[in-house]
Amino acid sequence: MEESKVIAVMGSQGSGKTTAALKLALALSAAKKNVIVVFCDPFTPVIPAVLPAHVPHDTSLGNLLTAPALTQTTILNACVPTEKSDYISLLGYCAGESLMHYPQITREKAVEFFVLLRYLADYIIVDCTSTFEADPASIVAIELADRVLKLGTANLKGVSYYLTHNPMLADSRFRKDTHSTVIGNLKTGQDWEAAAQQLGGADFVLPYAPELEQQFDELALLMPLTQTESAGYSAAIQRILGIQPEKSKPKVTSEAAPASQSPKKAKSKIAFRLPFAKGRGEF
Ligand SMILES: Nc1ncnc2c1ncn2[C@@H]1O[C@H](COP(=O)(O)OP(=O)(O)O)[C@@H](O)[C@H]1O
Ligand SMILES: [Mg+2]
Repeated sequence: MEESKVIAVMGSQGSGKTTAALKLALALSAAKKNVIVVFCDPFTPVIPAVLPAHVPHDTSLGNLLTAPALTQTTILNACVPTEKSDYISLLGYCAGESLMHYPQITREKAVEFFVLLRYLADYIIVDCTSTFEADPASIVAIELADRVLKLGTANLKGVSYYLTHNPMLADSRFRKDTHSTVIGNLKTGQDWEAAAQQLGGADFVLPYAPELEQQFDELALLMPLTQTESAGYSAAIQRILGIQPEKSKPKVTSEAAPASQSPKKAKSKIAFRLPFAKGRGEF
């Protein structure tokens, strides 16, 4: 697996960013990696659409991004554990909120947030809002991420979005060498090669899988995909992460275990799991 701790997922509306962010987190959690998924969208809060209503979610990303003093403990306490995985927790805006609920979020605060966040889990996946130019957290995430996945649909809407938004990333503070272009939600009959040409090439393709829509509607995106038609999507997620398919994984014996799997490191990671799996403190 590649060492890209912070992965920002950006792109057009409906290109599958939220779906991909959760499936990337799920794939990493299967490899026993802790993941915090940050849903930056302050215009249509995502957590209410991906977590069952009974899961408490009372500390918003908005609170963190406007807190006078931000600490790692404050951020960890705000993470919402997921029932489906001890390894995955979520941060995002609460139901009914918008940027109007908070004082202006500054670029400095967003930088502070991502700098602190980076050390709180093995991986941070940031689901950016499509209009990232209007959201300081999304734009800073794209700037600071070790890796940026730029999702676009293989249709005129995806191309139009790209033509508008890609030039916004021309400044050298956005490191183009960390960017990958991904065709998302590719439907049968869509010409991904033609679209890829317009998007300046494509590194990965995430094919359409009906099971994903079903999982989305049933708040079950943190469940593994099981249908045969979903295999292409799962394989693409693994390719993006550089994870070898299960069958061809070499067995690691205790003598041959790489340094990253040494017992000492594994122990400290288990300690990090606690705030995700157990109750949360006061904000
Ligand atoms: N690869 C895919 N196959 C099938 N449906 C998908 C796929 N990717 C996304 N979707 C569906 O498309 C819709 C938008 O996906 P979403 O992840 O919310 O996109 P975004 O976050 O980019 O707006 C959802 O209904 C989701 O189920
Ligand atoms: Mg989304």
